[in-house]
Amino acid sequence: MKRKSRNDDDGVNVAGLRVFCLLLGLLLAGSAHGQGIAGRWATYGKEMGNGHREQAIIALNQNGSVITGTFESLTGKTNVHGTIADNHFEIFAWDRKTPALIGELVNGELHGTMFGAAFIAKPATPQDEIPKVEYIAPSPLHRVPYNGLAATPPMGWNSWNHFGEDVNEVDIRAAADAMVWSGMRDAGYDYVNIDGTWEGSRDSAGHLLPNKKFKDLKALAGYIHSKGLKVGIYSSPGPYDCAGYPTSYGHEQQDAADFAALGFDYLKYDWCSAEKIYRDDQMRAVYQKMGDALEATGRPMVYSLCQYGKQDVEKWGADVGGNLWRTTDDIRDNWGSMIANVEKQASFAPLAGPGHWNDPDMLEIGNGGMNGDEYRTQMSLWSLVAAPLLAGNDLSTMSDETRSILLNKEVIAIDQDPLGKQATPDRKGDLETWIKPLADGGAAVGIVNLGSSAATATIRASDLAIASPVTNARDLWTHENVKFRGGAYSAIVQPHATLLLRVSVKADTKP
Ligand code: GLA
Repeated sequence: MKRKSRNDDDGVNVAGLRVFCLLLGLLLAGSAHGQGIAGRWATYGKEMGNGHREQAIIALNQNGSVITGTFESLTGKTNVHGTIADNHFEIFAWDRKTPALIGELVNGELHGTMFGAAFIAKPATPQDEIPKVEYIAPSPLHRVPYNGLAATPPMGWNSWNHFGEDVNEVDIRAAADAMVWSGMRDAGYDYVNIDGTWEGSRDSAGHLLPNKKFKDLKALAGYIHSKGLKVGIYSSPGPYDCAGYPTSYGHEQQDAADFAALGFDYLKYDWCSAEKIYRDDQMRAVYQKMGDALEATGRPMVYSLCQYGKQDVEKWGADVGGNLWRTTDDIRDNWGSMIANVEKQASFAPLAGPGHWNDPDMLEIGNGGMNGDEYRTQMSLWSLVAAPLLAGNDLSTMSDETRSILLNKEVIAIDQDPLGKQATPDRKGDLETWIKPLADGGAAVGIVNLGSSAATATIRASDLAIASPVTNARDLWTHENVKFRGGAYSAIVQPHATLLLRVSVKADTKP
């Protein structure tokens, strides 16, 4: 069943190998047994945490060997195209090079694999159809007042990157416990954020109840508060989140009021199935609706916009009451994804500042897909670009190295610097330099080695746009004071590692 899984990268293109066979089969054109593939096909996936099953409708037209149509799940709808020959079909979606659906037409059913998993689709009955929702027009644009929160980038933990759809209340309580005993809370990580798949169904009064994985949200929020932490929740402006669980469409005020009454302090609001109802250019108005609803509750809640950076969100995110907005698609636990996400921040740098931040997505530190140098680079770069620091690992089982990265207070101080300036990159060969001005008149500077062999990085005081002379420089990963000689400092940087310095100036030469 299609959803944004944690590992849905395209595989190898094997479709070409089938072209010859497909051409041979053209004359048979999918009707060898008198069957055609045209029609509406219903297929069901696994049972979700709320007891519903994932479902999709594959609506197909056939013209000879050519197939066109749509694929619709609870979370989205997309056009598809493909071919059928001798009852073998290959259907593509989202311009991907590997077929989304491959299989055979067998006795009036489709049998095969869908996004890599086995599926059977049968002719759809009216009960199989995806529920339709009535269109609700968004209000005209206006400015939602700033809620006074997130003067520095939010810090905390979010369940998605490690637990995904499997998260439950026990995991969240364990994360809150670990936030305390691991020292995360005392280092400044104060939000424990429940991501998608907590949702059950609405009661007769329209309140959205948690599913069986989460018994009592109010008690859970109370537990997290009792630890000196804050607690976040997740929803979508569409009828379903990205995993097919019910969300806030048509219930925005009610959900915001319920989130406030339950004690939540933070809402991540994820576009997901809103794409089936609204055009992208309506996003601002749609996000404004929840911004208004949160404001109306009177409870300060950090508002986190998650719409993957569409529609130049950095230009209007703050105007809908947003405190942070995702600027990218979902991060993956690998070097290429991490670097691509942070580099995408560069042009948005002037639009971030206290109260409203660019969000290159959560931390993957400790999830196992990158090595220690790469995770130190993520921590360095997220801090240099004043990104929200939302850990995404299992806090209960952190290695010493993971702890030393997430709990590096000198690096956290760069992220949390009250000036709130975002560094931008300057690349020379394999070395990329990021410079962030700091409130004390000094600067943080990071040089990342993007290459595959060790390289010598040099930081010149004259490049730092700070009042010289440099009086003190500290390597924030070795925790040693280092000396600038002749106005420069050089060090060897290993592949994918980052040299991160905090450079200070004499108090009386601050600009
Ligand atoms: C989207 C978001 C992710 C996560 C998942 C949950 O993909 O971008 O951060 O919230 O949905 O389904």
